[in-house]
Amino acid sequence: MNILVLHGINLNMFGKRDPKQYGTITLAEIDARVQALGRELGAAVECFQANVEGLMAERIHRAHAEGVDAVVINAGAWTHYSYGLRDALAILTCPIVEVHMSNVHAREAFRHVSVFSEIVRGQICGFGIDSYLLGLRAAVSAVQAARAG
Ligand code: DQA
Repeated sequence: MNILVLHGINLNMFGKRDPKQYGTITLAEIDARVQALGRELGAAVECFQANVEGLMAERIHRAHAEGVDAVVINAGAWTHYSYGLRDALAILTCPIVEVHMSNVHAREAFRHVSVFSEIVRGQICGFGIDSYLLGLRAAVSAVQAARAG
C-alpha cells in the first residue's frame, strides 16, 4: 500500500513558527514518525512539502498517474482558499484525509472553512503530530476496507 503525505505552504517552518499553535516538532520529525507508523501498518509512506502551489498541484497529478492508494494532506493556509488544489485533489479517486496540527475551529474565522471538505473522506485537527498519525491510520483503514469490498 502506497500512501502520500502532503504538506503545504509554510509547513517546512514547523519547529520554528508559532510554537503555541504547532509546538516545536519539526517537519523532518513529523515525517519520521509518520513513516515509522506506516512501516508498522504495512504502508509505504512518501512525504512531500511545497511552498509553491503549482508544484503541489503537479505532485497531486503525479499521484494520480502513480495510482497512490491514499493521500493524507495538511495544505496549511491553502486549505482555506485554494480552489486550484481542491480541483487537483478532486481528480484523485483514492481516499483523501485532511489533517491539521492545530484546532482550526478554535482559531480565526478564515480557518474555519476548508475548500477541500466536500472532497475529502474526513478531517482531523487539533492533536498536533497525532493529527498526522490518526490521519494515516484512517487512510490505511479506508484502503483496507475498500480492498475487503
Ligand atoms: C494548519 C492550520 C492552517 O490554518 C495554517 O494556515 C497552517 C497550519 C495546521 O496544521 O494547524 O499553516 O494547517
